[in-house]
This record gives sequence, structure tokens and C-alpha cells, in this order.
Amino acid sequence: MDQAYWNDYYERNRLPACPSLFAEFLMQSFLRPPMQIIELGCGNGRDSIYFSQKGLTVLGVDQVSEEVTFLNGKYSTNKLKFCMGDFTRLPSDESYDCVYSRFTLHSVTDADEDRVFNWVRHALRENGLFALEVRSMSDPKRRQGTRVSPSENIVDGHYRRYAELSGLLAKLSEVGLAPLFSEESTGFAPHGDEDPPVIRVVAQL
Ligand SMILES: C[S@@+](CC[C@H](N)C(=O)[O-])C[C@H]1O[C@@H](n2cnc3c(N)ncnc32)[C@H](O)[C@@H]1O
Repeated sequence: MDQAYWNDYYERNRLPACPSLFAEFLMQSFLRPPMQIIELGCGNGRDSIYFSQKGLTVLGVDQVSEEVTFLNGKYSTNKLKFCMGDFTRLPSDESYDCVYSRFTLHSVTDADEDRVFNWVRHALRENGLFALEVRSMSDPKRRQGTRVSPSENIVDGHYRRYAELSGLLAKLSEVGLAPLFSEESTGFAPHGDEDPPVIRVVAQL
């Protein structure tokens, strides 16, 4: 799960920056208060904090305990909490209007992703949304580093798995989720001088 990689990253990038373009897109078109949302792999909390500022009730989950402790100490309110955990093994005792996953599913294996999708189906309320953004097979990073399989590699010790839009939609359909929005494009997640094609999906139960 690359805990050491992310621990080191957040030690150097602790304070949340501005929200992602995906979070802003969702607030413009799909999300509104008083929805309840869970973020899988919330990182430094930038999107969880943004959603809560927009009036949503938010739980951010991440495996990096130091970052979760920091975020709870600085930002938690009665409508914003952070929790340390493995998002591929979450309990099914809560339900949400939206499950949000940005740049996290490509850090887990295909089998773990299947478990997440099954959990999502049970965790979503009626008409609930699953919003995800992942790296695609067309990402230039896929051809770098050490190849594990055609869709997996390790770059600088960091595991990534690249998705195909059609395959992703088929898997979502198997668990009863229908796409409201699905697109693969550049411009979704530019970072520094990189702007790889990224898959963005909003699916509804
Ligand atoms: C690329 S970062 C994305 C952070 C945030 N979603 C964003 O878009 O800014 C991936 C995050 O997922 C977390 N992560 C990866 N696998 C995880 C797992 N199985 N359980 C919990 N967190 C995980 C990492 O610790 C890291 O913070």
C-alpha cells in the first residue's frame, strides 16, 4: 500500500492546497448540502476540507496515520472527520450519498478494487453516487519503471495500476452502478508540466 512513500510525501506536503478540479466539478454539477460523503484515500485532506466548506458532511479515510492525526487536530468539526484505515477493507455499518475516490484506485490491485466496488454498492444510499478519477492505460507513466503486467508498473518503488474506461464501466455495471458522466481526457488533472489523459466517472446506484 506504499505507506512509507505517502508518509514521506505528506511530511513534505502537509498543508492542504487548493481543491482538485474534480472536486470543483462535482460541486458544480452533482453534489449539494446536506449530502454525506466519504473520501477514499483523502491524502492531505484538500478535497475533504473543500467539500465540508461547501456544507457536506465528510469522512476522509487514509492509511497514513500521521497525516490523519494532523488533519483531525487542525480541521475536524462535527461535520468533518478523518479516519486512519485501509479503504479496501472498510466496514459496512454506515451509508453515504457519495463515495469519492480521486487518484486512489490505481494504487490498489484489481482484486482490491473489486472488493471496493462491492463495498460501494452496499455503502451507497438509494440514488447515491460513486465519483472516481483514475490514471488510464494511455498515461505515459505506464511505459516507465518496472512492468508488473500490461496495466501495472512500479516507478521509483511506487506501484500503479492503469484503467481502461470500458472495463471500468463494465465492472461498475456489474455492481448496479450506471454512469451519469464518463470521460477520458487530458485537462482533468494537470500537475506541474504533466497533463496525462485521466478517466473520470460519476456513477449512480
Ligand atoms: C495520489 S494520493 C491522492 C490523494 C487525494 N485523493 C488527492 O486527490 O489529492 C493517494 C492517497 O491514497 C492513499 N491510499 C492508497 N491506498 C490506500 C488504501 N488501501 N487505504 C487507504 N488509503 C490509501 C495514500 O495514502 C494517498 O494518500
